Amino acid sequence: MSFSLETRDLTIRFGGHVAVDAVSCAFRPGTLTAIVGPNGAGKTTYFNLISGQLKASSGRVFVGGDDITSLPAPERTKRGLGRAFQLTNLFPNLSVMENIRLAIQARRGMGLNLWSIWSNHRALIAEAEAILERIALTARRDAPAASLPHGDQRKLEVGILIALEPTVFMFDEPTAGMSVDEVPVILDLIREIKRDMTKTILLVEHKMDVVRELSDRIIVLHNGKLAADGEPAEVIASPVVQQAYLGMAAEDEEEAEAAR
Ligand SMILES: Nc1ncnc2c1ncn2[C@@H]1O[C@H](COP(=O)(O)OP(=O)(O)OP(=O)(O)O)[C@@H](O)[C@H]1O
Ligand SMILES: [Mg+2]
Repeated sequence: MSFSLETRDLTIRFGGHVAVDAVSCAFRPGTLTAIVGPNGAGKTTYFNLISGQLKASSGRVFVGGDDITSLPAPERTKRGLGRAFQLTNLFPNLSVMENIRLAIQARRGMGLNLWSIWSNHRALIAEAEAILERIALTARRDAPAASLPHGDQRKLEVGILIALEPTVFMFDEPTAGMSVDEVPVILDLIREIKRDMTKTILLVEHKMDVVRELSDRIIVLHNGKLAADGEPAEVIASPVVQQAYLGMAAEDEEEAEAAR
């Protein structure tokens, strides 16, 4: 058994609505699993249950074999669950460099101990600089996070996630709202994390070309239930995905229509 993350019968009800319905799924290190499904299928809610932003109505979450169902979100982060939020991980008034540096310090558990900060200062700065290079933000190192354009803020958020060195990376539509030239930077970062071969990556993504290229496995959520799980080619060809995907394509059409 070498599952880094597992959910067993994970369920949440909002009133009468079951948003995530008895989802049992296990994830291995070195695997990128794409989570697809139509809007409202429960993908983000599934992430919220794993990272601890929401409390399950029933079912369990395991990390490295340990039951973490009752742990609050910060404790889950310490156990290696890394989630990129919609920019809420950023300290807006601190510089790009300081945001990364604080994430490294948080991971090392250095807190605000002045001696440990001082003695490790050089190593800390070098590590932060290496991450700035990876996220292509070296030129903006002294800019306050809040002053960055949206795409750069998303890159910084991935940088903070990398600095925390989680064992499980969760990306929820990481390229949503990004301009065409910014998308490849984010995808490259995900590819690089994947190349490591030791990380477990969960990626919620609507763009099927991205899913096809990056994933080792695809799971489909539909009405909160696990509707398909398998090799990308096989899952993409399945009726449930064809239906959900065509559903999305129709929606894109509507959006395009509305924008005209
Ligand atoms: N806090 C909440 N309270 C009540 N209902 C909620 C809450 N969070 C999510 N839901 C409901 O749960 C269902 C699943 O929502 P979720 O955001 O997980 O879908 P999703 O698959 O991420 O969709 P999208 O592709 O649009 O991001 C929806 O019907 C949503 O309205
Ligand atoms: Mg969502």
